[in-house]
Amino acid sequence: MLQRPRRNRKSEVIRQMVQETHVSAANLIFPLFIVEGENQKTEVSSMPGIFRYSVDNLLREVESCMKLGLNSFDLFPNIDEALKDKYATEGHRDESLYLRAIRAVKNEFPESCVVTDVAMDPYSSDGHDGIFENGEILNDETLEVLGKMALAHAQSGADIIAPSDMMDGRVGYIRKVLDDAGYAGVSIMSYTAKYASAFYGPFRDALNSAPKFGDKKTYQMNPANQREALIEAALDEAEGADFLMVKPGLPYLDVIKLLKDNTELPIAAYNVSGEYAMIKAAVQNGWLNEQRSVTEVLASFRRAGASAILTYHAKEVLLNKWL
Ligand code: PBG
Repeated sequence: MLQRPRRNRKSEVIRQMVQETHVSAANLIFPLFIVEGENQKTEVSSMPGIFRYSVDNLLREVESCMKLGLNSFDLFPNIDEALKDKYATEGHRDESLYLRAIRAVKNEFPESCVVTDVAMDPYSSDGHDGIFENGEILNDETLEVLGKMALAHAQSGADIIAPSDMMDGRVGYIRKVLDDAGYAGVSIMSYTAKYASAFYGPFRDALNSAPKFGDKKTYQMNPANQREALIEAALDEAEGADFLMVKPGLPYLDVIKLLKDNTELPIAAYNVSGEYAMIKAAVQNGWLNEQRSVTEVLASFRRAGASAILTYHAKEVLLNKWL
């Protein structure tokens, strides 16, 4: 035999020498949940180790992450049911929990990178990402609301705006709103290929944001489709996106690779709440080794072509020095 691939696996030194991809703190974005109040820290029952923080505790959490070299955060608000309405007006009210949280983080930690989520669902009394009327989600009317939200986020100091709603044309619409208002420097990380997935369940528990009726299949993508992701990617790129995101992550590694091969833009992968919950549940039962399974999952995103990984495991991998 001339070729013996095992020779390149024979020692730890050689294995590391030929290692093709690496995950570092710089690749990670940590999603954080926020609640109203003071000194609040409540665990999400379906996501052990993940908490909802009041703004004061959020600042302490951000500080402890930054000491570990984790500098990028994606914020999500848990909104009081009484503040929700049909048009998600709480999503752009100046003194809302979300805008106060963005300002607080950027004031105290200007060097952090704050990613903000643009979609109506946390603020919508219908629990949908767009305006619901006469049995359907209205696309173009929703864009106006998303534009107001994105502008409010930019004014509050957001570094990257991440529209997660899947309305048609929203990247171009938001880009124009931001540019017209003098925020040409604020980035857009588009949820390009966001699938109608079962794996968002624990996230909706965390925010109490599940749809009050129906499902999200008229706007989120069919899990069976791959080529449709190329249509979304071409549009987002033409409309001015800076990053293309695939979500969920693990069940869609083929889509990450597909987009990587068809764009020069950086790709982000969202390792979503249900993927986190699966690993945690198996670890708690003693069925999986946590360090090995988490690092293997993160490596798979880099191997598929993702530059950025949004993951609830971000802090624990750094705290435990697993990378
Ligand atoms: C809201 C949004 C969702 C997630 C991120 N932004 C849920 C949904 O679309 O229903 C899911 C994140 C996760 O599951 O970790 N548009």
